Amino acid sequence: MNPDAAKINAAAAALEFVREGMTIGLGTGSTAAHFVRLLGERVRQGLVILAVPTSEAARTLAEASGVPLVDIARVTRIEVAVDGADEIDPGFRLIKGGGGALLREKIVASAAEHFIVIADKSKPVKTLGAFPLPIEVAPFGFTFTARRVFEALRATGCAGDEVTLRQGASPTLPYITDNGNFILDAAAKKIPDPAALEAALKRIPGVVEHGLFIDLTHTVILGDDDGVEILDRPADR
Ligand code: 5RP
Repeated sequence: MNPDAAKINAAAAALEFVREGMTIGLGTGSTAAHFVRLLGERVRQGLVILAVPTSEAARTLAEASGVPLVDIARVTRIEVAVDGADEIDPGFRLIKGGGGALLREKIVASAAEHFIVIADKSKPVKTLGAFPLPIEVAPFGFTFTARRVFEALRATGCAGDEVTLRQGASPTLPYITDNGNFILDAAAKKIPDPAALEAALKRIPGVVEHGLFIDLTHTVILGDDDGVEILDRPADR
């Protein structure tokens, strides 16, 4: 599999869900970036849409690609949002936040009437957790927050419990999100009960948001070298 061709194929298929006049949520990461560039091409051909970026990186790319942006505070609907993922399980539960944009990504995904995940075929997994779970936390008291996250991993039966502070460009400085927060990466290894971990993380003061996306995804588009597979949310969810 050529990951770039696979991502481009998935991004191109997502464009088919975009209609004139819609407000579109723009995800963050390398796969979502292909969607932004392709959307820019459509706009140059005359498509009229507005878009809400999920990160400053997505904003910069959208501006460079000619995609017209609108402040999220000025819209009442986001008809479609398109974003990548770090892991996708059979129930369409995701780990997101590898790029550190999970808070805005989740706000936009949850506001969207149709949330579409685009990915290459390396992203589906049987059980979430091999990709360390990103957790956005307030800088104040983050060592205590990290301890509580460690306890939550243990209490919910995760196979791993290592929690690390994400580093920024300089090894001595933490990564800072677009919202001025830190990211803890939780090496859960296997998350047997994502809903239980979600609930446990939500109870921790200092956790701003976490990268488990549960019951948000409507459609998954998996690309490979030759084309795409389009999956709709399993009926039992
Ligand atoms: C950013 C994300 C990305 O969507 C996720 O990391 C996937 O990125 P890529 O498409 O580059 O593999 O959640 O916060």
